[in-house]
Amino acid sequence: MTLPTRTDIEAAAEVVYREFPPTPQYRWALLSQRLGTDCWVKHENHTPVGAFKIRGGLTYFDQLRRRGELPREVISATRGNHGQSIGWAARAHGVRCTIVVPHGNSVEKNAAMRALGVQLIEHGSDFQESREHAMQLAAERGAHMVPSFHPDLLRGVSTYWWEFLRAVPDLAVAYVPIGQGSGACAAIAAKTALNHPVRLVGVISAHATTYADSLAAGRVVEAPVSTELADGMACRVADAAALAILGPHLHHLVPVSDADVAQAMRWLFADTHNVAEGAGAAALAAAWQERDQLAGRPVGIALTGGNVDSAVLARVLGAAA
Ligand SMILES: Cc1ncc(COP(=O)(O)O)c(C=O)c1O
Repeated sequence: MTLPTRTDIEAAAEVVYREFPPTPQYRWALLSQRLGTDCWVKHENHTPVGAFKIRGGLTYFDQLRRRGELPREVISATRGNHGQSIGWAARAHGVRCTIVVPHGNSVEKNAAMRALGVQLIEHGSDFQESREHAMQLAAERGAHMVPSFHPDLLRGVSTYWWEFLRAVPDLAVAYVPIGQGSGACAAIAAKTALNHPVRLVGVISAHATTYADSLAAGRVVEAPVSTELADGMACRVADAAALAILGPHLHHLVPVSDADVAQAMRWLFADTHNVAEGAGAAALAAAWQERDQLAGRPVGIALTGGNVDSAVLARVLGAAA
């Protein structure tokens, strides 16, 4: 799979900006103090669905439209943010949208998808089971199955890294959470397109290690998922195309536990008063682990989403740090 070029990303940005403006990136003083170096946060929690994923849905549908291939119905599987992205773009194009989520999925992400007109189906005990059901449904109904990782999603997602790297040309190290890998591949695409010197570090959940295991083995290795906080990173089977891009381009991977993530959510709230969902706080958790190596180097944190259920947030904020 080829990465989007600078021209592709610039064209994608035009598609994205029809729906919302670039998100801000701020250097937060308290977070910088905490890390002992300049800490820049890319606020993807400030898109209209509260996560970066919407960018990919917009370009995926734009590409379908350009090819004259807009279907009657799309089906996809999600833990929530990809589903909101597809729901948003489907609504914009007048396409019916069915999304499969596992049982026990985030109540508020489910509500947000329904509010976008999505027909929600709960099936399976994890994302992988939902995904397999979605593929079967799509085949039965003749609907278009939207994957979680695809070049046309990557085009849009790359725009957030393109914004971030252009806004902070001296960013030395940036941390990006990995679920299915589109965010990390997008970071690589933007870095390559801009010839930016930033070192990219991938962050995985210590309770969902398929990407680390697969990169170590040089092939796709399934790994059980037990994270209860980082649902955006709860992936059991790595994507082979994503692995092929991440392997040569990520400097290294950092695993973060749910306890690390909870602590980072509390810090993001206390230091910036932004709400981060688990996956949205993972980058800060990883930077904190590596803070001794970061002194004097501007660090970038992707706050990829803020869609955490109120009850979960209350529990996390209420827990002793
Ligand atoms: C908030 C958030 N952060 C990170 C990720 C991981 O992104 P990707 O699947 O592109 O690796 C997701 C995925 O859904 C997410 O929702």
